[in-house]
Amino acid sequence: MKNISILGSTGSIGTQTLDVVRNNKEKFNVVGLSANNNIDLLEQQIKEFKPEAVAVMNEKKALELKKRIGNSKTNVFHGIDGLVTIATLENADLIVTSVVGMIGLIPTIKAIQCKKNIALANKETLVTAGEIVMKEAKKNGISILPVDSEHSAIFQCMMGYTLKDIERIILTASGGPFRGFNKDQLKNVTATEALKHPKWNMGKKISIDSATLMNKGLEVIEAKWLFDLDINKIEVVIHPQSIIHSMLEYKDSSIIAQMGYPDMRIPIQFALTYPDRIINNYKKLDLLEISSLTFEKPDLNTFPCLKLAYEALRVGGSLPTVLNAANEELVELFIQGKIGFYDIPKTIEFILEKHDVEYKLDIDKIIDIDKWTRNFVKNILL
Ligand SMILES: NC(=O)c1ccc[n+]([C@@H]2O[C@H](COP(=O)([O-])OP(=O)(O)OC[C@H]3O[C@@H](n4cnc5c(N)ncnc54)[C@H](OP(=O)(O)O)[C@@H]3O)[C@@H](O)[C@H]2O)c1
Repeated sequence: MKNISILGSTGSIGTQTLDVVRNNKEKFNVVGLSANNNIDLLEQQIKEFKPEAVAVMNEKKALELKKRIGNSKTNVFHGIDGLVTIATLENADLIVTSVVGMIGLIPTIKAIQCKKNIALANKETLVTAGEIVMKEAKKNGISILPVDSEHSAIFQCMMGYTLKDIERIILTASGGPFRGFNKDQLKNVTATEALKHPKWNMGKKISIDSATLMNKGLEVIEAKWLFDLDINKIEVVIHPQSIIHSMLEYKDSSIIAQMGYPDMRIPIQFALTYPDRIINNYKKLDLLEISSLTFEKPDLNTFPCLKLAYEALRVGGSLPTVLNAANEELVELFIQGKIGFYDIPKTIEFILEKHDVEYKLDIDKIIDIDKWTRNFVKNILL
């Protein structure tokens, strides 16, 4: 039995993680869950999985949930301290970090310091503080197992080899809902259109990031830290079928690809069972049904967010923190219909230029820079 805690259990990754658990009740026991506001779903999850503790970010909702579940054995916590409690429960073996945004940073660091293994979906944590998180992981001897399908693919393709054997990795991207659009067509697209991802059913923030290609940029940064790769060894290709989840080229020119239908439960399951592989009833890949796999160069001129992420990573220091915080704020404003599609890259570029890059970083400094960036966005746009 593996005891797992899920940060963000009411989201797309969180609910799919619980589906994997539901299919393997003899292997996993849920000890902790968390939500931001969605206490209706969290209440159902408490009834089904009977965790020892849950956290709700919103204090009022936490109190309401406490009333609703009455004298159930599940303890209810709230706020960031509540999230940390769920991330550090004494008997948790594995923490699934599936909250969205850099809010996952502190609970992830605290979990690592308590020597918990991490199944990481929350890419913003690695984007904003990758170097610090990976150093903490090494220091505490824990594993960070990738949940993101691309990084799970690379992780699987890399098995048995080390960095010195690798020529490059190729991250695949579906291209999102606006693949093939030109700048004129993109000017007036709405959040409703951007949220219609052709291949994956995901939370709102990552869906918008997929539409701008910022998601791939965040994944380039995530890959750099997860696999300790030089930026020049990380490439991106558009692969609209989303069958190859990513590839790895070895120095002997051999390329290994990991494939499957786009179903996040497959990489989630692997992160939960690693190093074992277990049977499931998910749809098996039928190559004849797919018949062709195609690849295109990303259009960095029409989708500048990917280019901005590469630039932020190349400069390094605090620039990825600024990129991430600005993007989080701007995506939210775009979802609210307050700004247009191109205001996202235009504003990020402006802030990256205004920011004086800092290289001596610790968590407090990162939190300060994150706040500075969010205020900057609000001041210039609202
Ligand atoms: N979805 C995918 O297929 C996918 C694939 C790869 C990687 N990822 C990554 O996984 C992470 C989660 O994505 P998702 O699509 O699952 O997002 P999502 O559906 O929006 O779910 C986010 C989860 O985090 C909680 N949450 C949101 N804001 C919070 C806050 N301020 N404090 C505490 N909890 C908060 C939400 O609670 P409420 O429900 O109460 O709002 C929900 O449980 C992201 O970093 C994303 O990039 C997702």
